[in-house]
Amino acid sequence: MLVLIDHANLKEIESLYEAYPYDGVTTNPSILRNEHTNPIKLLKEIRKLIPSDSQLHAQVISDTTEGILEEAHFMLDAIAEDMFIKVPVSAAGLKAIHLLKKEGVNVTATAIYTAMQAFMAGKAGARYTAPYVNRLDNMGADGVQVAADIHNMFRIHNMECDVLAASFKNSQQVLNLCKKGVGAVTAAPEVLRALIKHDATFTAEENFENDYLSLIEEVKGINLKR
Ligand code: E4P
Repeated sequence: MLVLIDHANLKEIESLYEAYPYDGVTTNPSILRNEHTNPIKLLKEIRKLIPSDSQLHAQVISDTTEGILEEAHFMLDAIAEDMFIKVPVSAAGLKAIHLLKKEGVNVTATAIYTAMQAFMAGKAGARYTAPYVNRLDNMGADGVQVAADIHNMFRIHNMECDVLAASFKNSQQVLNLCKKGVGAVTAAPEVLRALIKHDATFTAEENFENDYLSLIEEVKGINLKR
């Protein structure tokens, strides 16, 4: 399962990558707005910052097929040819996904709230589909189940499309999707950090260190590392 960072702050991205080799960065227009800077320039900087085999996903805002294609071509030229263009699944979006796929562009279908939206996007040629897990949960639906259903549908129909589950508020949602075998998840830094955080681990580490230090004290003069 690929694990991506859903954020656009350069310092955050750098500090996360220093600790762990993530699989890429996803953004949306709201995430970019939080950085209060030229979004295209920022996306270029993110592309430069992350390893060349890491993915970069950025979203179009047009609501017509022509507009989506124009924006996609602009981003591919200005940022990177192999980046993933995120297209919301509307009627115009589905047509754009189909046309972009014909050009060989990597597409992530986004703003997905139903399994059938994802299925149609996969058939149109999207490489990834992004169901919004936490937003679904907040609507009284089961976000993990929707994402798992999409994953199963892709496998049953032998489609070359994977779930890139998005919109998480806690590590439990990520764990539940990991158990279902989805292809990828993208989450904000606080959720990613929570994936490995456990106070008991910290306490155990501290106790082991104290025990070892007291042993050194006990058998002074012996190099315990040999
Ligand atoms: C990713 O494709 C989505 O844009 C993003 O994860 C939405 O997350 P949010 O529901 O926390 O805004």
